[in-house]
Amino acid sequence: MSSTGLDRGLVMEAVRVTEAAAIAAWREAGRGDEKAADQAAVDAMRRALNEVAIDGMIVIGEGERDEAPMLYIGERVGAGGGPRIDIALDPLEGTTLTAKAMPDALAVMAWAPEGGMLNAPDTYMDKIACGPGYPAGIIDLDASAGTNAEALAKAKGVPTSQITVCVLDRPRHAEIIASLRAAGARVRLITDGDVAGVINTADPDTGVDLYVGQGGAPEGVLACAALKCVGGQFQGRLVFRNPDERARAERLGVKDFDKKYDLHEIVRAEAIFVATGVTKGALLDGVRIAGGFVETHSLVMNSSTHTLRQVRMRRPL
Ligand code: FBP
Repeated sequence: MSSTGLDRGLVMEAVRVTEAAAIAAWREAGRGDEKAADQAAVDAMRRALNEVAIDGMIVIGEGERDEAPMLYIGERVGAGGGPRIDIALDPLEGTTLTAKAMPDALAVMAWAPEGGMLNAPDTYMDKIACGPGYPAGIIDLDASAGTNAEALAKAKGVPTSQITVCVLDRPRHAEIIASLRAAGARVRLITDGDVAGVINTADPDTGVDLYVGQGGAPEGVLACAALKCVGGQFQGRLVFRNPDERARAERLGVKDFDKKYDLHEIVRAEAIFVATGVTKGALLDGVRIAGGFVETHSLVMNSSTHTLRQVRMRRPL
């Protein structure tokens, strides 16, 4: 048993869950139907989760019970008879990417002991993240994006022109992008998928140093679980566009609406993070069907041991 309360066998069971979701979603890749791809991933993930010997509860899922027939917040999953686990999941992170057969769609999930993760509402979150190896507090959500890029450059001992910052390509990010470019940083725009955008900051091979911008709060929690395992820094603040979103947050126990959360306040306990590639991307290869076999590529991370495993699965169709 590790301090996540999960034995190693159970951790490997988790990867079967994202594998199942990724394979189901991939069957819909390139068909232009985001809903069908998402539904396929949700169905497959739920079936697989219910075979695992855990007493699980969804804390980040497909939405609240009235809007999500499956994998809704508060839904109990698992075959029972195992540890009580809080589950954050996104059966298909990158529905549009999948519908358009574009890179970087993932099936993702994080597990932590009961109460170990922020029960974030399905609102936006302002986020900033960098990888491991920097002094604590190097990034600050309240400083301009350009100032953050300059601070990172200084700590890294390179000119700001050698800093690459990942940003979701959205009109709302015009100011962030202008600030980064004015500071001389390189901006890598992505169309979707900021879980991968954040995780990429922790992988020098991707060339991404910093992630900045506003994306889904649930995706923020998932990305934090991954960074907790591999190292790095993250700050996030929930963004409310209307009273309904505030009410959702309140229902989930959020009291301070302006709070700037850091990584360890978002994922408070030791956690595991698993992801399987749906379409091939910088982080993971996508699902492949060849020669009568289906193949998947997954990451399994454990914060209590700081291990990162890459798992390649192949089985007959
Ligand atoms: P979905 O897979 O749910 O469509 O989310 C994709 C995504 O790009 C997330 O990675 C990101 O956090 C969010 O959407 C950004 O939201 P929006 O598309 O509204 O800007």
